[in-house]
Amino acid sequence: MIISSSNDYREAARRRLPPFLFHYIDGGAYAEYTLKRNVEDLSQIALRQRVLNDMSQLSLETKIFDETLSMPVALSPVGLTGMYARRGEVQAAVAADKKGIPFTLSTVSVCPIEEVTPAIQRPMWFQLYVLRDRGFMKNALERAKAAGCSTLVFTVDMPVPGARYRDAHSGMSGPNAAMRRYLQSFAHPHWAWNVGLLGRPHDLGNISKYLGKPTGLEDYIGWLGANFDPSISWKDLEWIRDFWDGPMVIKGILDPEDAKDAVRFGADGIVVSNHGGRQLDGVLSTTRALPAIADAVKGDLKILVDSGIRNGLDVVRMLAMGADLCMLGRAFVYALGAEGGQGVSNLLELIDKEMRVAMTLTGAKTIQDINSDCLVNLERLAK
Ligand SMILES: Cc1cc2nc3c(=O)[nH]c(=O)nc-3n(C[C@H](O)[C@H](O)[C@H](O)COP(=O)(O)O)c2cc1C
Repeated sequence: MIISSSNDYREAARRRLPPFLFHYIDGGAYAEYTLKRNVEDLSQIALRQRVLNDMSQLSLETKIFDETLSMPVALSPVGLTGMYARRGEVQAAVAADKKGIPFTLSTVSVCPIEEVTPAIQRPMWFQLYVLRDRGFMKNALERAKAAGCSTLVFTVDMPVPGARYRDAHSGMSGPNAAMRRYLQSFAHPHWAWNVGLLGRPHDLGNISKYLGKPTGLEDYIGWLGANFDPSISWKDLEWIRDFWDGPMVIKGILDPEDAKDAVRFGADGIVVSNHGGRQLDGVLSTTRALPAIADAVKGDLKILVDSGIRNGLDVVRMLAMGADLCMLGRAFVYALGAEGGQGVSNLLELIDKEMRVAMTLTGAKTIQDINSDCLVNLERLAK
């Protein structure tokens, strides 16, 4: 099939991957309202077209936490990425590295920290969940530091996992799940050969290393359910601070009051995120949450944002609403599932080109120039 946009990658991934994996990526929590609104609300943000400003010299370069990025984009942490392509974390990290942007490794990755960092030049970012097993958290932080990871992304919006009803239908969980996954793999021979067979081991790499024994998909679901910690509070983050002296970013902020607490705590950044609509269905889309958060804390820490960003126009919209950096979740995973690392590289080039068109036609020559002047205030127009 012809691929010319991120939506095409979604369709290509749907064809390539067994349904239990495609729907695990594509789905959200409960009735999936927030998942839909993330994309819809962002697409409604009207860019303000300006012309005849000599836009021949554009720069997408930006800086965050002393790192220079070729564009204001990073890859979000995504669990089980090594199931969507062979050693998928390594492939995605290499694509991000070639483009000059950060890759964030999930706690629950297939490839362990030590497998990914040697493949790339830039320092990797590492994402940590709050887990009951503090020994694992300490071990993971020490290993991330030893492997040269620069930034810790600490995810706080999963004190309990949200229910994803699609998973029970698709065979990710539910009755006879293992048998259904096995049969689906047979019907997707390209995936079965390339990833199912040659992509082994399908461990949760970071956790197996800590437990000293292999962990499979069944363990993943069980371990996650048993290990998330609903008792988490700001004081637990102090504990993390003792083990991490690099930049610390708190992921999963959706309210200005929590953003202010993150400033008081001394965080270097926040990710405005609803976990891609995978946790509490019915919460605000990040498009609607971001402006009030930016009003409350812009300049006090870096504002990163994800959930619903699918193309370069979306990146410009989020920056214009106050974000410093955008993170891509499903957008990169669809590309990876469809065409491996080359797909991710192609997607990043696509986003670069889309951003250039959006900047040219909104009159922004640099990333610093992207602000609310690049948007039309639709509410004012309606009056
Ligand atoms: C399949 C999948 C797995 C994810 N796993 C993690 C994870 O391990 N840790 C984490 O902090 N966020 C995880 N997320 C959330 C992403 O980091 C990100 O917040 C979300 O995908 C952004 O929304 P978008 O997919 O609409 O861009 C996951 C998302 C998806 C789609």
